[in-house]
Amino acid sequence: MQTKELENGISFKTKARILVFMIASIIFLLSAFIFAIYRLQNRNASSIIEKKLDSAQQLFNAQLESDANMMSAVLKSFLSDDKMKAVLSSRNRKLLLEYSKSIFEQLRNEHKITHLYFSGPERVNILRVHNPGKNGDIINRFTMLEAERSKKIFYGIELGQMGTFTLRVVAPCYENGRLLGYIELGEEIDHLTHKLSEILVLDVYLAIKKKFIKRKEWESGMSMLGHQADWNRFADVVIINEDQDILSRDFADDIIRGHYSKDINEGSMKKNGRYYRSRLNHIKDVSGFEVGEMIIVYNVTELIASRKTYTIVASSIFLAVGSLLYFIFYIYLSKIEQELKSAYEKLEQSNSSLEKKVDERTMELKESQEKLVQTSKMAAVGQLAGGVAHEINNPLGVILGFAQIVVRNIKEGDNLYMPLKSIEREAIRCKNLVSDLLTFSRTGKSTMELIDLNTTIGSALALVETRSKTQNVEIIRIFGEGLPKITANSNQIQQIIVNLCNNAIDAMPQAGKITIGTSKLDKEIEITVSDTGTGMSEETKKHLFEPFFTTKEVGKGTGLGLSLVYEIVKKHNGNIEVKSEQNTGTTFIIKLPITPTVPL
Ligand SMILES: Nc1ncnc2c1ncn2[C@@H]1O[C@H](COP(=O)(O)OP(=O)(O)OP(=O)(O)O)[C@@H](O)[C@H]1O
Ligand SMILES: [Mg+2]
Repeated sequence: MQTKELENGISFKTKARILVFMIASIIFLLSAFIFAIYRLQNRNASSIIEKKLDSAQQLFNAQLESDANMMSAVLKSFLSDDKMKAVLSSRNRKLLLEYSKSIFEQLRNEHKITHLYFSGPERVNILRVHNPGKNGDIINRFTMLEAERSKKIFYGIELGQMGTFTLRVVAPCYENGRLLGYIELGEEIDHLTHKLSEILVLDVYLAIKKKFIKRKEWESGMSMLGHQADWNRFADVVIINEDQDILSRDFADDIIRGHYSKDINEGSMKKNGRYYRSRLNHIKDVSGFEVGEMIIVYNVTELIASRKTYTIVASSIFLAVGSLLYFIFYIYLSKIEQELKSAYEKLEQSNSSLEKKVDERTMELKESQEKLVQTSKMAAVGQLAGGVAHEINNPLGVILGFAQIVVRNIKEGDNLYMPLKSIEREAIRCKNLVSDLLTFSRTGKSTMELIDLNTTIGSALALVETRSKTQNVEIIRIFGEGLPKITANSNQIQQIIVNLCNNAIDAMPQAGKITIGTSKLDKEIEITVSDTGTGMSEETKKHLFEPFFTTKEVGKGTGLGLSLVYEIVKKHNGNIEVKSEQNTGTTFIIKLPITPTVPL
């Protein structure tokens, strides 16, 4: 029972420990996995955003370059046209308008070109094809001055007086080395940002620093272009163009203001469950002044949502695989647990059988140890008794001899007759006792012969019958028939029977039965002597065969009877056992070999 609890305890604890470790590992791995996926996704999303925002600036520059090239090409075609040269050198505004009007219309429609100027060699404006009413002023813009200085086509972004950004391309027109004047083309930059916004699906805002423009002129410029003009919207800048799809004005204000108030180029914001990333790019005009900024706003809500979805899906798959692994492991562990249990059971079985064997061996050892003690005691007492008996034997012979001579020579009526007769009787008793002691000590001589056991036992019973009758003890004989003769000393066998019967009679003071049986076993003859007497206590049984052990009163028993019996049985290579129950009776079982194995 204890082993079972132990075994269950061990296997349960081991299984629980392994499973807890497994769950902890799965949780740890899952967390690490989610973290890694999230980081990876984050990095991916960041790189997509960065690329998009970078590409906005690159696309803007590329667009600027390509438009400038396109306008340069147009101007070159003008310069190679002799008719144009003739009209320009004539400075006839009407002719110039006639010449250029249709071309300008075409350029405006197809390429969003908004400006076409013709100026004289002193940079005095002859005709603004887009605004014919205004002329005669000297053009002092950087692009014009650079074209004059370099005598080549020159272009760049310039901030106009009305606060608009314009890409201007100026070409000096020469004929045979003589400067005829300048032709200039221009386009509003918001045309470029609009394209940018369309291609990249971004919101683009163009901001100009207030310090570079005048409010009134800017406001009139904006109304002329049809844009909203809100001077007070921001502290330092005004928005000249906004290509917006998604952002509300308030939100756009928050983003743009965020950049200026925190003085940052990169920004991120969340509003109404949507995420935005923004970037502020400085815009330099052709003379190198940072006159404003282009603010790009990218709606990254979907990107972030897809990142979340990806993370959730990947984690779910991992969790499912982890759970599957857990269950496989669980089943596997249960199997091991079963095997462990059966191994424990086997161990327990072999353990108990081992314990049983150890108990048996211990019992055997105890018995043989007791026998050894008994034998050595017997040997010691036997030696002592033998020595004493031998010394007493001769004087006793003298006493008995003289007593018998004297008794024979006096008459019965003599006064000394009775005492001498008593001396003779007691001397005979002593002689018998000495003879017993000598038998016990093995020093006495014993002759072995082939005897019929039933006859020997019968004559022994005749000796005890007188006493048994006086005590109302019935003697029952159950003798086996046709028993083989055995080699034994008949006197000693008789001694055995007399002693056992005397003890039995002693144990039945009121009356009783003695049953004496003989029978043949395989290689032995069995003699049983049973009585219906008092029986023996366990303590008596333990010491029964020890010499001088008696429970009888002093003078009534010497305690030599059964030790003598034991010695005789052993001398005959036999065996003696006793079965006794208090108030029921006692049985002595003696087994004597039919053929003695040890020579006597
Ligand atoms: N048949 C029996 N029934 C009950 N007790 C017995 C029986 N035989 C022997 N005993 C017990 O065993 C003891 C030892 O017996 P044992 O014959 O050796 O000595 P004893 O009879 O006491 O003395 P002794 O035989 O020398 O006169 C007895 O004192 C008695 O207590
Ligand atoms: Mg006795």
